[in-house]
Amino acid sequence: MIGDRFLPEKEKGYVVAVVGATGAVGQTMLEILAERKFPVAKLIPLASSRSAGSAISFKGREYIVQDLEQFDPAGVDIALFSAGGGTSLTHAPRFAEAGCYVVDNSSAWRMDPSIALVVPEVNAHALEMARQNRIIANPNCSTIQMVVALKPLHDAVPIQRVVVSTYQAVSGAGTRAIEELAKQTACLLNAGSAEVGVFPARIAFNVIPQIDVFMADGYTKEERKMIDETIKILESDIAVTATTVRVPVFYGHSESVNVTFTGPMDAATARSLLADADGVCVVDDPTAEDYPMPSEAAGSDPVWVGRIRDDASCPNSIHLWVVADNIRKGAALNAVQIAEILIS
Ligand code: A2P
Repeated sequence: MIGDRFLPEKEKGYVVAVVGATGAVGQTMLEILAERKFPVAKLIPLASSRSAGSAISFKGREYIVQDLEQFDPAGVDIALFSAGGGTSLTHAPRFAEAGCYVVDNSSAWRMDPSIALVVPEVNAHALEMARQNRIIANPNCSTIQMVVALKPLHDAVPIQRVVVSTYQAVSGAGTRAIEELAKQTACLLNAGSAEVGVFPARIAFNVIPQIDVFMADGYTKEERKMIDETIKILESDIAVTATTVRVPVFYGHSESVNVTFTGPMDAATARSLLADADGVCVVDDPTAEDYPMPSEAAGSDPVWVGRIRDDASCPNSIHLWVVADNIRKGAALNAVQIAEILIS
């Protein structure tokens, strides 16, 4: 349960800064603030000196992007950060010390035990931790959509183990990555060669089983994030293992999730629990060949779940296919939902 309100009621709305306003997630944060009619009295778009002075639009008006480095955060109520981990480490404390609540989309603060790591449908209560330090971490995009699907099942019968493989869209790696897939695809279709820049290998017409860097144990950092963040958010010592894979899709992450429970659970029970769950839409009709896909999930808000079936190889185990728009629920929407709790 959430206690007293975080920010006082302000009749005219709140001063909201978007850090990384020129980026893929920042732009979607602006769209979602407008769509959900977040009470913004004053919007302050911030980015690096590279794009300071350029214009972005919000609710049909143009705003000039300011340089984060030079910006004084005094008077800002809420700052939505999506400008990379280094930027957050340097600047989020500066904003928090000025009295502003920071919702940070980077991985900089997620595993700090004093920082709340929040998915509103799953653990809004964790926000209580933010009253002191005023920094709230938005989880990794792949973690968010998975825990939204796992939570109602875990509440019914505690989960013992999760095995997840992801199929992640390029937009998760930012605007340069989106451009890289488009450019490589066009070049290869025109008998040209594909230039590799953002990803460790060609992404067009390919599948890359590496997201982020490798660690000493052979897992990638993205896989480690999914494992550690799931345990932190669900507040449970679940055994989690992950393989994270980049696929040539622009928007929408997909996940094959195999779940083993500590007690009786089957596909029919899971389907009915998920049908009633907050933030989840079940699309699961094999007779009509109906299941979620990123082409349909892109641009939407829910976490879509399908292919729900018993794992014939293991008792009390099921398979799920989980799809969501990685830029919306996986990043910008989750951050705005947290901001909505801060003002409610
Ligand atoms: P800029 O346009 O000035 O580079 P994406 O993930 O889509 O690439 O977007 C990253 C966002 O983070 C952009 O808005 C980018 O701004 C911003 N950004 C990157 N580095 C910094 C920094 N050092 N200070 C402020 N903003 C930054």
